[in-house]
Amino acid sequence: MTKILFITHTAAPSGAEIATARLARALRDLGVYVAVAYAQDGAMAQRMRADGFDTWILSHTFDSRTMTIADHSPTRLLAGTVGLARIGWALGDVATESGATVMIAESSKALLMGAVAARRAKIPLVWHVHDRVSPEYFGHVLAPIVRILGRLLSCGYIANSRSTMSSLLPRRRALVAYPGVESAPIAARAEQRDPAETIVTVVGRLTAWKGQDVFLHAAANTTVRPSHIYLVGGTFFGEESYHKHLEQLSDELGLPVTFTGHVDDPEEYMRRADILVHCSVLAEPFGQVVVEGMRAGCAVIASRPGGPTEIIESGVNGLLVEGGDRRALTAALDTLIGDRELRCRLAAAGIRRAVCFDIAESARAVAHFLRAVGAPSDTEVSAAWSRNAG
Ligand code: GLC
Repeated sequence: MTKILFITHTAAPSGAEIATARLARALRDLGVYVAVAYAQDGAMAQRMRADGFDTWILSHTFDSRTMTIADHSPTRLLAGTVGLARIGWALGDVATESGATVMIAESSKALLMGAVAARRAKIPLVWHVHDRVSPEYFGHVLAPIVRILGRLLSCGYIANSRSTMSSLLPRRRALVAYPGVESAPIAARAEQRDPAETIVTVVGRLTAWKGQDVFLHAAANTTVRPSHIYLVGGTFFGEESYHKHLEQLSDELGLPVTFTGHVDDPEEYMRRADILVHCSVLAEPFGQVVVEGMRAGCAVIASRPGGPTEIIESGVNGLLVEGGDRRALTAALDTLIGDRELRCRLAAAGIRRAVCFDIAESARAVAHFLRAVGAPSDTEVSAAWSRNAG
């Protein structure tokens, strides 16, 4: 019987942690025992505990922000690694106490903690990869190091998209499992409005690579401007100055923007919106909000390359534009704002497409994969991989 211990380095409610919580719930619904260990306390840890999961906080002094990919000076990296290894030592006891049969590291930092802990607890460690391990994201020095460590320290990968998987060193024990959404129907949503009434929502952490500044410039140049814009998302990892910059920019451009800050459930803003825009300027690893927006009945514009290209068929169930291309984004906004019928068609097809990302399906594939991870033969793993990556 598989017993899973998820480990994460942060308890902030950002994309990877939200995806982990959804997967944990869906696995529990399948009857799998799931516990979670957070390197530090925070909103997600409290939420999981309230939800009835065995939840461990590993340190009350660790601050995940002291070791960021933006600042990877050798001394900080070394100090951070030693700190993570220390937490990993404590995590080894937690793993034994929880009776876990497998540990899943939810980030590269968690991988370092998990490497120490899994060896102490003598259980396999799987790396659940939410970020593309690319030079553009991790930097030229760190990316190959993380790739090699990922290969050496774990005994299998679960990647959140084919795009993410392609950024790792190849291995047989590997599964693509898309972060899913719950299949329960959403509450009633607003009808698609006339062009001059259009509401546009952008959901995501306010951070430069998510490209909200590109969006504001693009929205300012539309022929018929949106009647209102919601920028939904918080700043968790020292991104406050970018938030200020966005506020200034929307003032300068005279755009009617509401900054909601972080909201636990952004669905309300999606149900209110005609169009949901995802505009990352780097390849998005997966892009949960793209699926959430489709599920909520928005006409969705998302940027390529990366995960969104595995979700959207452009012109059929959404529109894809090149990440960072303001003009292309303005053109896509103009197309959708000006054509209510097209919005209705894309939104209806988007709802049908979102059904393919049922979290229960991903959980079944993950459960199957994990059963095989401890098994002597890799046959089962390959089967799971080919079913899900196909
Ligand atoms: C990270 C990725 C995002 C993905 C999420 C869940 O936040 O940046 O693309 O949707 O993890 O896997």
